[in-house]
Amino acid sequence: MKFNLSEVTDLIRSRRTVYPENYSERQIQRDQLEQILNNALWAPTHGNTQPWRFVVFQGDSREELADFLAKTYLKITPKEQQKDSKLAKMLNRPKQAPVVVAVCMKRDPNRKIREIEEIEAVACAIHNMHLTCTAYGIGGFWSTPGPIYSEDVLPFLGLEEEDRCLGLFYMGYPKSEWPDGQRKPLEYLTEWKN
Ligand SMILES: Cc1cc2nc3c(=O)[nH]c(=O)nc-3n(C[C@H](O)[C@H](O)[C@H](O)COP(=O)(O)O)c2cc1C
Repeated sequence: MKFNLSEVTDLIRSRRTVYPENYSERQIQRDQLEQILNNALWAPTHGNTQPWRFVVFQGDSREELADFLAKTYLKITPKEQQKDSKLAKMLNRPKQAPVVVAVCMKRDPNRKIREIEEIEAVACAIHNMHLTCTAYGIGGFWSTPGPIYSEDVLPFLGLEEEDRCLGLFYMGYPKSEWPDGQRKPLEYLTEWKN
């Protein structure tokens, strides 16, 4: 065995979504953030296009993110569907986390790889971030609010027309218990063929 499989399995199974409401004030250090992002880069990438891009919001820039989310939510959501609770999350969550990373997919100019595969590569990068957070005891939350799919996200994050934002990845140390998870057993999900 090249690695300690029981530790690797523990790490994978311990990865949990921890929401910003449950983060403490404890800061995440710059070297930790760099480790988290450097591990993201080692996700699989078809054709080695390395389509991931990151915009890191910390300090006062989290306010700009909150403003963007709230403003865009109100713009893209019909009035009768707008909910105060959703708007409050857009406004509050960025400030409840010491760091939020917008994780984006940069479309390769040669289009040599299908878009879905570029998206899949970035999803794997986000997973690497989440696993690395778990190793530090940092909670993560992959958030996909409506505004990240709006056209206004492109200028906000400095993206071009065919690029996409795949999510906001919130990080913070939990202020209470690490959450439990649940999964369906493998036998319900697998067909074995011989
Ligand atoms: C592509 C993707 C988008 C997600 N977007 C949201 C989201 O917008 N809001 C949310 O509460 N959770 C979101 N999640 C997190 C899931 O809710 C979470 O993974 C699920 O509840 C399982 O919990 P666990 O991550 O602790 O295993 C997202 C997960 C994925 C893979």
